[in-house]
Amino acid sequence: MDGTSSIIISGFSAKEAVELHRCLSKHYDINIVDDSAEVLALLDERDIDLLLCRHTKGGFDALELFRQARIMHPETVRLLAGELDRAEQEFAVKDAAIYQFVPNEWGSRQIELLVNRALENRELAYRHRHLSRELKIAEDVLRKHKVNRHSEGQGSRFERLVYCSPNMASLCNLAKKASATNLPILIQGETGTGKELMAKAIHYNSDRKEQPLLVHNCGGMSDELLHSELFGHKRGAFTGAVSDRMGLFPAADGGTVFLDEIADVSPTFQVSLLRFLQEGEVKPLGSDKIIKCDVRVIAACNQPLDTLISKGLFRQDLYYRLNGFQLNIPPLRNRIDDVEVLANFLLEKFSAESNRNILGFSPGVLEKFSYHDWPGNVRELENEIQRMIAITDNNTFITEECLSPHLAALKPRVKPRQEDDTLDGLTLKEKVEQMEARIIEETLTRLRWNQSRAAAELGLSRVGLSNKIKRYNLGAGSAVA
Ligand SMILES: Nc1ncnc2c1ncn2[C@@H]1O[C@H](COP(=O)(O)OP(=O)(O)OP(=O)(O)O)[C@@H](O)[C@H]1O
Ligand SMILES: [Mg+2]
Repeated sequence: MDGTSSIIISGFSAKEAVELHRCLSKHYDINIVDDSAEVLALLDERDIDLLLCRHTKGGFDALELFRQARIMHPETVRLLAGELDRAEQEFAVKDAAIYQFVPNEWGSRQIELLVNRALENRELAYRHRHLSRELKIAEDVLRKHKVNRHSEGQGSRFERLVYCSPNMASLCNLAKKASATNLPILIQGETGTGKELMAKAIHYNSDRKEQPLLVHNCGGMSDELLHSELFGHKRGAFTGAVSDRMGLFPAADGGTVFLDEIADVSPTFQVSLLRFLQEGEVKPLGSDKIIKCDVRVIAACNQPLDTLISKGLFRQDLYYRLNGFQLNIPPLRNRIDDVEVLANFLLEKFSAESNRNILGFSPGVLEKFSYHDWPGNVRELENEIQRMIAITDNNTFITEECLSPHLAALKPRVKPRQEDDTLDGLTLKEKVEQMEARIIEETLTRLRWNQSRAAAELGLSRVGLSNKIKRYNLGAGSAVA
């Protein structure tokens, strides 16, 4: 149908029916039907908006027809004409729940006005129901959003790092302890997990915070350039060295140097770095002068350094020097609890930056987020949210239609059951423990490592679940993939 309302007229004389048809067919799709069975069949078959029938004692039984129509098609408006005694009137109101009686003396024009009003009311009632539902959803989301913003949903903070997962909480606790020392720190984690943000958090949480934090990316640089950048050079030390240059280490004296992509440093330069870490002094290129500098070094890489050592690509002694504290930032897929707090935090951050007022995420969006693996980690989440904000109108919620197609298509994943053959030859206690570990791992995998949900589903406290994860070494080896 094209939106024109459909009406059934039944029980009227041929003359009345023709007159009603003439009047109403200007705006409505009219069906003139002879008997009740046919009316009911048409109601089943098509979307009929209004039923206009004349009741005739001993003839066309509109009352019984309306009673049945009320049960099967309650949305259809019922208008009743005809001579009715008291009992029939009562039946019409109570059992048939008619919208209105049509007085006998009314002509077709008056009936037309009544039909218009009845259909308008029906439309308004429909919209009211629809909007109330929308409003209820919005209120639920808003309530949840508010709860999130003002309670645990907001997550914890370590400087600008936002998190709520137990694994990030223990990592940040360790990072806070590391901040209080001068020991070098090695931060490992996949791309986009927040290594640089962690380095900054450590610096600004340390006694060095009033001194500089200088960042250097060691990737794709020749040794000479790296030497000049980090240790400095004298004018004329090499072609193009037109003036003296202070290296990053002396420039950061008293503060922190963050060396990103440390794994890219050549074996020769690894020796120079090792010397610096041992002695705490630098010799600029082309200079005989040794400069003492007090800097805390934080190094980062997105692959585990120990695997590079075993391949002979990274010096073990330098690794030990850098590794005063080791902080392995888990990939986002292993701390799905963080996705929601991060999403809300990033939404607020980016909306404010772009002067937009977005009310929040619909629950479906957050659910899809929790099914995703996030290979680009928090950076990928940031990009997704910035894109979604751009296509969402102000004062509305971000809905599932805004999701990138690969996210919109996601379904919860269920890990296939393993064979039970590994239980052979174990004691009862060992079997029970294996089963327990398997059930916990299955639940965590299915819930994308959302530990709060898994704990709730398994009837454990979050601490209890976390202890079991440690005890059974679940998800091990994936902290740095
Ligand atoms: N826990 C977090 N809370 C808030 N923002 C975060 C968090 N983790 C990462 N981010 C944001 O995600 C983006 C990527 O973080 P960052 O640059 O620190 O990652 P990285 O591990 O250094 O990545 P890469 O290996 O690609 O250099 C940044 O914009 C950062 O602000
Ligand atoms: Mg980085």
